[in-house]
Amino acid sequence: MLLELDNVTVSYGRIEALHGISLTVGEGEIVALIGANGAGKSTTMRAISGLRPVGQGKIHFDGQDITKMRADLRVIRGVSQSPEGRGIFPGMTVRENLEMGAYTRRVRAEVDEDLQRAFDLFPRLKEREKQAGGTLSGGEQQMLAVGRALMSRPKLLLLDEPSMGLAPMLIQQIFDIIVEINQQGTTVLLVEQNAQQALSRAHRAYVLETGRIVKEGSGNDLLTDPAVKDAYLGVA
Ligand SMILES: Nc1ncnc2c1ncn2[C@@H]1O[C@H](COP(=O)(O)OP(=O)(O)OP(=O)(O)O)[C@@H](O)[C@H]1O
Ligand SMILES: [Mg+2]
Repeated sequence: MLLELDNVTVSYGRIEALHGISLTVGEGEIVALIGANGAGKSTTMRAISGLRPVGQGKIHFDGQDITKMRADLRVIRGVSQSPEGRGIFPGMTVRENLEMGAYTRRVRAEVDEDLQRAFDLFPRLKEREKQAGGTLSGGEQQMLAVGRALMSRPKLLLLDEPSMGLAPMLIQQIFDIIVEINQQGTTVLLVEQNAQQALSRAHRAYVLETGRIVKEGSGNDLLTDPAVKDAYLGVA
C-alpha cells in the first residue's frame, strides 16, 4: 500500500473530529472519500499532509511511518495537497504560483517540463501565465491549485474538493483531468461533495460519517448502494 491510515484520531482542542479511521490507498489508485459537511474529510487530508497532528494511530506512506513527520518533509517524500478553498498566492502570477509548487525540486529542466505539463493539462493557465493569481476566476484558481500541487511530482496527490464552485462543464473537465493525471502515474486521494462524479471515477471509495468510516467499496458498488444513494447521491 502506498498510504495506510491505521486507527487515526485527530482533535481540535478537546473535540475529537476523527474517532479512529483506517483506510488504504494503493499505488496507482484513485480513492474517493465522501461524506456530509463536517464529517471530517478535510481533517483526514490535513492529517495525511501533516497540517494537523495525529492523536492516536499511525500513518504509513511509501513504506515509512510518517505519523509525526513534518509537513514539508512529507512533500519531499511525495505527498502533495491541493487544499480546500484553493489557497493560492494571490499576489504572484500564475507561473510563479506553479513554480512555488516546485520548491522542493532541484533540477531546472524537470521543473520546466512539469510547467509545460501543467499548461498542457490546463491551457487556460497558459493563457494567463502572467496574470496575478488573485485576479483569476474561482474556477481558474481551482485549476491553479491542482496544477501547483502537481509541480512537486507527488507520488500521492491529495485533492480536497477540486470541483468546488465550478460550473457543470468545468466539473466534468476537472474530473477528466484527474483521471488523466492518474493515468500518467500519480496516485490520487480525492475528497468530494460531488459524490456522483467522484464515485464514478474512483477505483475505490470510503464513506465518512461524523469522524468514522462507515462504508467502503469499489466506486461502482457505492454508486449503486441504496443507503449511499439516499444520503449522498440525491436520487430518490
Ligand atoms: N480549526 C478547527 N477548529 C475547531 N474545529 C474544527 C476545525 N476544523 C474543523 N473542525 C471541526 O471538525 C469537524 C470536521 O471538519 P472537516 O473540515 O474535516 O469536515 P469536512 O468533512 O471537510 O466538511 P466540509 O464538507 O464542510 O468541507 C467539524 O465538526 C468541524 O467543525
Ligand atoms: Mg472539507
